[in-house]
Amino acid sequence: MEDISRRTFVAASASALAAQSDKPIRLAIIGTGNRAYAHLAILKSLPGYQVVALADPTPENLDRAATMAPGAKTYTDYRKLLAERKDVDAVVVITPSFLHAEVTVAAFGRGLPVLCEKPMATTVEDANRMIEASRKSGKLLYIGFQKRLVPLTVKMKELVAAGEIGKIEFVSGNLFRGDWNPRSWKYTNPKTGVATNWRYLTFTEGSALLEDGVHEIDSLNWMIDDRVVRVTASGGNNVYKDRETVDHVATIIEYASGVKLSFELCLFAPNAGPAGRRMVLIGSEGIMYPENGKVAIRKRDGKGARYVDVVDDTPKSVTENAVGSAQDSETYKQYLLFARSLREGKAPLVGPDSAKATVKIILLAEKSLREHRVMNWNDLPA
Ligand SMILES: NC(=O)c1ccc[n+]([C@@H]2O[C@H](COP(=O)([O-])OP(=O)(O)OC[C@H]3O[C@@H](n4cnc5c(N)ncnc54)[C@H](O)[C@@H]3O)[C@@H](O)[C@H]2O)c1
Repeated sequence: MEDISRRTFVAASASALAAQSDKPIRLAIIGTGNRAYAHLAILKSLPGYQVVALADPTPENLDRAATMAPGAKTYTDYRKLLAERKDVDAVVVITPSFLHAEVTVAAFGRGLPVLCEKPMATTVEDANRMIEASRKSGKLLYIGFQKRLVPLTVKMKELVAAGEIGKIEFVSGNLFRGDWNPRSWKYTNPKTGVATNWRYLTFTEGSALLEDGVHEIDSLNWMIDDRVVRVTASGGNNVYKDRETVDHVATIIEYASGVKLSFELCLFAPNAGPAGRRMVLIGSEGIMYPENGKVAIRKRDGKGARYVDVVDDTPKSVTENAVGSAQDSETYKQYLLFARSLREGKAPLVGPDSAKATVKIILLAEKSLREHRVMNWNDLPA
């Protein structure tokens, strides 16, 4: 069972993490590209952690990461790291998504718990391998859907659970953004020698929605809390014709109780402004959505909106260390929860079963847009 109580979010704090033990949790980070840099910036604010080893085959990324983790030993092959280092307490997997399963299963083989970046995997079979390896080793598998910890999302989840809009019946969301990072790692095809941005290939990315939009779908699916029965999607490459993965997609996810989740991703809208990210929940009693940093609730009685305040209690010292966007304060909270799960045996906020469900929903959408037909839940493996 996942731990989704309010206490989960408020009880963890950096000082509590430090006080829990004199000994920091010693981490090995595998995959030190762009996202790892944001992790390392956050870890600098967390005395309860110590990064002792880093692995990546790309020397410039490894060297840049090493500047953020003084004293950590670097490896170009993660297998050597896992074989050699007996002083590691947990592994953080931040490789391109198609390698999550391989690296996670190897870490469990060493008897080490894992924090693995989203998406959990690029196939349902890989997600199952990860769950099985975690079960066999008896070690924690925590999946990095840090956006469940965005204060607005947490507040919306709470308000839904309190029945503020009645039973959720229809949900709409979107992510309109710019193209993938052109400096992403390149996958080299062993037969042709051609190197391609890993986010352009279906094999390495899984699907465009699995790479982004996945956070919003995961959070909305978490709030809807129902069983998916059917998924349909349409998409293609209208602007970026240089790749396999699509540049836009619209999907409809249908749940057992009749709820529909409609979601759109577009990658050729770099300057979308407030239209770029939307999450609208419509229930039997009213509608709820974020507006200017608050949660707006409009009841069916037509009496206007009520605005609920949202507080972000992340310490300034952390936001000052942020790399890129505000998402780093969520990554900070994620590390607090990971430590709690490790030290107190608490169920993770994002357990492998719900992370796998998100993978399966999105892979059904990908299959639907490729095959131009509606997918049932059983059209992919259990
Ligand atoms: N949670 C979030 O908000 C978020 C944001 C961005 C990316 N991500 C996820 O993080 C992961 C990495 O994304 P990124 O943006 O850092 O990609 P990236 O291309 O910037 O970096 C990937 C790194 O993995 C390394 N790598 C490749 N093969 C490896 C191997 N066998 N062993 C170890 N390292 C290997 C590459 O050399 C590169 O340094 C992806 O799964 C992505 O979906 C999550």
